[in-house]
Amino acid sequence: MSTATEALVADVRRGLGARPLRLPPRWLYDDVGSDLFDQITRLPEYYPTEAERAILAAHAPAIADACDAATLVELGSGTSDKTRLLLDALTDPGRSHGPLRRFVPLDVAEATLQDAAVRIAERHPGLEVTPVVGDFTTHLARLPRGPEVGRRVVAFLGSTIGNLYVEERGAFLGALADSLDPGEWLLLGTDLLKPVERLVAAYDDAGGVTERFVLNTLRVLNRELGADFDLDAFSYAPLWDPRLGRMDLRLRSDRPQHVRIPGAGLELDLGSGEEIQVEISTKFSPEGVADELAGAGFAVETAWTDAPGDFALTLARRV
Ligand code: SAH
Ligand code: AVI
Repeated sequence: MSTATEALVADVRRGLGARPLRLPPRWLYDDVGSDLFDQITRLPEYYPTEAERAILAAHAPAIADACDAATLVELGSGTSDKTRLLLDALTDPGRSHGPLRRFVPLDVAEATLQDAAVRIAERHPGLEVTPVVGDFTTHLARLPRGPEVGRRVVAFLGSTIGNLYVEERGAFLGALADSLDPGEWLLLGTDLLKPVERLVAAYDDAGGVTERFVLNTLRVLNRELGADFDLDAFSYAPLWDPRLGRMDLRLRSDRPQHVRIPGAGLELDLGSGEEIQVEISTKFSPEGVADELAGAGFAVETAWTDAPGDFALTLARRV
């Protein structure tokens, strides 16, 4: 069994072996899921990608000049599409700290990661591109470190940090701070709190792409673990949780059903209307982001937002 399958089995036993039922979002991103996410980023309702792109378009040169990094690491890099704006600024020969030497994208989605790495290496022939297949919650030790790597800036874009539960977020930021040397950098993208109508529309698009993305996690379990989830027997149920400040993306069983997941040695009886939480997407306030970063050992250097104030990009230094 591959280590990824072992991790999936452990996650499924933990998440579906007891109530409340939930699955970690990393299993959304097989090749189909990565492609569906890419489609989501182009939906008119899904504002975060373009909001973050606008911040990068306006401020990438300032970010490149503010941080004296020789290596850019990107966590959960996916297609690294917006990252091009950052790479263009960091590799500019006129940059005050000299051009970036190395780019290290890290992602669980191997095919998407390798495609992106090839495209970026073609665009930046002088740049060493060394992709790392891994989980940013457990594999930060796989990131290159040391004198030959130089000072690093770690970009974590897209507000992917919002897909972690609050306790996971604290553990992740702590582990990231531990893996960085004082003076190294974090560039963190966070989606900001806004009226509920826009949030719900962004996660319940008219074309049903997000529904297909969320349902895809059951297809992954069917393929990888021989499960017999009937995708037609579930409805997509996204809701805004005002207490926890997060979108809560669930799949609701339309009828009582018995599901076998032989690869995890698990059988599941679902009642009619019973839900499996597949993803959360937390929304932040600028003050909340600064507090969480400070609590983990980072000092905010600068925070930028897009003109409507939908999204924030925060540059912070490991103290
Ligand atoms: N950074 C990109 C992609 C965001 S989608 C953007 O801003 O548009 C989230 C990405 O994180 C996907 O590429 C997914 O494969 C990856 N991902 C999700 N969970 C992960 C994990 N635990 N470890 C590493 N990558 C993960
Ligand atoms: C990757 N992540 C930040 C997306 C989000 O907005 O939480 C994933 C997503 N799920 C549904 N739509 C987009």
